[in-house]
Amino acid sequence: MLLKTRWLTLDPYMRSGFMLQPDNVGKTVIGGTVSEVVESKAPTWQTGDLVVGFYGWQEYSVGTASDVQWNNPNMPIQKWDGSLGEPSTALGVLGMTGLTAYEGLKNVAKVQPGETVVVSAASGAVGQVVGQLAKIHGARAVGIAGGPAKCAFCVDEFGFDACVDYKAGNLGADLAGATPDGIDIYFENVGGDVLEAVIPRLNPGARIPICGFIAHYNETPTARRVNPLQRLRAEGLEVLGKDGNTKGYTFFTFSNLSSRHPDAENALEILSAWIKSGQLKYRESVTDGSSGYWAAGNSARRWCVSPADSRHSQCSATSIPIPSSSRGWIPAMH
Ligand SMILES: NC(=O)c1ccc[n+]([C@@H]2O[C@H](COP(=O)([O-])OP(=O)(O)OC[C@H]3O[C@@H](n4cnc5c(N)ncnc54)[C@H](OP(=O)(O)O)[C@@H]3O)[C@@H](O)[C@H]2O)c1
Repeated sequence: MLLKTRWLTLDPYMRSGFMLQPDNVGKTVIGGTVSEVVESKAPTWQTGDLVVGFYGWQEYSVGTASDVQWNNPNMPIQKWDGSLGEPSTALGVLGMTGLTAYEGLKNVAKVQPGETVVVSAASGAVGQVVGQLAKIHGARAVGIAGGPAKCAFCVDEFGFDACVDYKAGNLGADLAGATPDGIDIYFENVGGDVLEAVIPRLNPGARIPICGFIAHYNETPTARRVNPLQRLRAEGLEVLGKDGNTKGYTFFTFSNLSSRHPDAENALEILSAWIKSGQLKYRESVTDGSSGYWAAGNSARRWCVSPADSRHSQCSATSIPIPSSSRGWIPAMH
């Protein structure tokens, strides 16, 4: 198949997983893609189909029907079902980041009604979904984000019960105020000082799905701090799932879980239904082409499509969508 890239995404894992590796200089940057089939000799793929794949940062790619996403043999490329939502969401709320939130909260942490869920990088692509899923499951959602604008966004737009600004300088006290009953689930996206503030608030029986630790991604091999797994082990916590443990911490990747859990193949339909019913909102940062993309900064999600002749209305050179209901453009807040 000859594939024309329509949507690309920039995600934190690229920094540590690709861009900081000297051997990768000159190679095509890895990444999730939505591409249009331009020509096909594969019987199951027709011209015009949209392929959700992992073809990286290039305008065109050549694929086969047996290609996989995320180098995971259990995640074949997928024909985008337009009834689920906009194609861009295949790289976000109805793709990697939404599925990560869904798997981590539901199938790893096994969220229960009445529990307190804290999520760091709360306004990010994963965090914003985690908080809303916590609410959908009857839990209390508390975000940790950088700055008053992002915190207001979590509470006002996404319905978090509270959000703590870790840049305000009182993280420990502010988090204690926002979690009067302690923390039952900490959805870890950050590590570092944020994790240090969370540890004293953890309830007995707490679960800590470790999704990522973005505060560590720029560390060099010679200047590494202990990562959340090491830190929580040192704290004496159990490994969740090991020997049947129902509490403690564990690192998980969405691609391993999304191909394993009983409800995995329905997860996209479930998330899509919540979006359609208004229970799950999302925001995307969209740029048209790579030049705009570099200026977009780092908010909830960054998309770019090239070239500018895209038929996707969200992404034309002159028209970036303004926030309306649950979708739109977030100005760079970094
Ligand atoms: N395990 C998996 O399968 C999986 C899948 C997807 C993502 N992830 C991980 O999930 C995490 C979130 O990903 P995402 O896609 O939601 O990211 P994102 O949308 O790019 O948001 C990342 C946010 O992290 C916050 N951040 C960055 N540096 C920080 C620091 N030093 N201290 C505290 N906060 C910091 C920033 O928000 P503030 O301005 O609020 O600080 C930033 O906006 C990352 O660690 C990523 O690697 C894991």
